[in-house]
Amino acid sequence: MTENQNKTKLSRHQFLGIAWFGALATLVGEFFAGLLVFIQPNLEGGFGGIVRAGKVEEFLPGSVNLVQAGRFYLVRNGEGGFIAYWQRCTHLGCSVPYEEEQAAFRCPCHGSVFDEHTGEVTGGPAPRPMDIFPIEITDGEVFVDTGNPQERSAFSDDQIAYG
Ligand code: FES
Repeated sequence: MTENQNKTKLSRHQFLGIAWFGALATLVGEFFAGLLVFIQPNLEGGFGGIVRAGKVEEFLPGSVNLVQAGRFYLVRNGEGGFIAYWQRCTHLGCSVPYEEEQAAFRCPCHGSVFDEHTGEVTGGPAPRPMDIFPIEITDGEVFVDTGNPQERSAFSDDQIAYG
């Protein structure tokens, strides 16, 4: 083997070493990038994190508004208070549409009906009222914490948030 061939062989070894190291570094980097995405709180304002619903004055008293990004209904009562209902049925989890003409939420799966003012069950098999999300009103903006759903057995006034 000449000295020149020896150099080429050594270069090949170095190349393979660098290639292996590069592949390993890429795998480890991808693993930790994926882990970071998984464990970080949702900062994009989507479901599972704090969702900015909008300014207080954007919601008329007595209105029901679906906030699709957070999968909840933001209901503003006649006195100006807010409550946020998770759109998920408390029976088996179907999405519950709002029926304005009935002033109620009616689940298409097995017919549970929820009152628009309280979220309480007025018909069907649902075992409890619609779950709610905590609301924070800061600087005239309504924020809803969709990472913290709260089950309840009944409606009470302290579930209403005021700005
Ligand atoms: S999932 Fe809504 S009534 Fe069954």
